[in-house]
Amino acid sequence: MNNKINPKHAFSRRLLLSFGSFLLIYPLIRFISHRVPRKPVIIKVTEPLKQDKFLVKDDFCIFSENEQIWAVSRKCTHLGCRLNYKEEEGILECPCHQSRFANTGLVINGPSKTELKTYKVEKNTDPPFFIVST
Ligand code: FES
Repeated sequence: MNNKINPKHAFSRRLLLSFGSFLLIYPLIRFISHRVPRKPVIIKVTEPLKQDKFLVKDDFCIFSENEQIWAVSRKCTHLGCRLNYKEEEGILECPCHQSRFANTGLVINGPSKTELKTYKVEKNTDPPFFIVST
């Protein structure tokens, strides 16, 4: 009786085992790596902008300039304090460590290195005047 395995058959057996293992593991990998996309939160704003330029809400500020309108998060990207809008300078400033941000969300200075989140704003002529998708 010959117990020697033909190298050609051993390779195809190994290949078949590898392929079979992949088929067994693939659904598990897909399950683990699957992420459910976050649904956008839609906020209706019934107040008009102050001086047609800005509006400060709890979690975001809405700005309007040159027919463009956008919203910027008020959560500081350093440690998460709520930013204050300085109307006379047109910037957002953190009361905790004094990071400063432009009204577009860009970092001007401070310990924060990451720009603020910006949100899409839909403008209406009737209330709600703005619909912010966060
Ligand atoms: S939390 Fe805003 S600068 Fe530190």
